[in-house]
Amino acid sequence: MASQRTLSIVKPDAVAKNAIGEIISRFEKAGLKVVAAKMLHLSKEQAEGFYAEHKDRGFFGDLVGFMTSGPVLVQVLEGDDAIVKNRDLMGATNPQEAAPGTIRADFAQSIDANAVHGSDSPESAEREIAYFFGSDEICPR
Ligand code: TYD
Ligand code: MG
Repeated sequence: MASQRTLSIVKPDAVAKNAIGEIISRFEKAGLKVVAAKMLHLSKEQAEGFYAEHKDRGFFGDLVGFMTSGPVLVQVLEGDDAIVKNRDLMGATNPQEAAPGTIRADFAQSIDANAVHGSDSPESAEREIAYFFGSDEICPR
């Protein structure tokens, strides 16, 4: 599998718990490199646009409220099979169903405050990376 890029977000709950370092350490130990990073406090419009695919779901308002509740760390991760590798490190969306040793099993409280985001496909990775980063903000390959 060729090198790939994916978008990762350390969500407000994990930032508030000072878990940024431990989460990045898991990415690095798995062979993923941080090639872009910034701390942001998302506006309502930024969070709504990012999660637009979920705009008709019942949880959308709560999701936007949570994602704007505090600062987040937005990163581009790069490495072999980065999209699936990051999703495997994250664990299931609902931390109650996340495999032991995954980020969500270890750091998340509930499905609506679940510590991390990761792109779920090459198409979403491309859209999500461009949503937050200009090409001049990402380390060249
Ligand atoms: P989704 O894209 O399905 O999950 P993932 O983050 O694993 O890709 O949903 C996006 C976020 O929406 C999810 O991380 C948390 C929130 N969410 C809820 O609050 N309740 C739900 O029932 C679902 C499916 C998601
Ligand atoms: Mg998703």
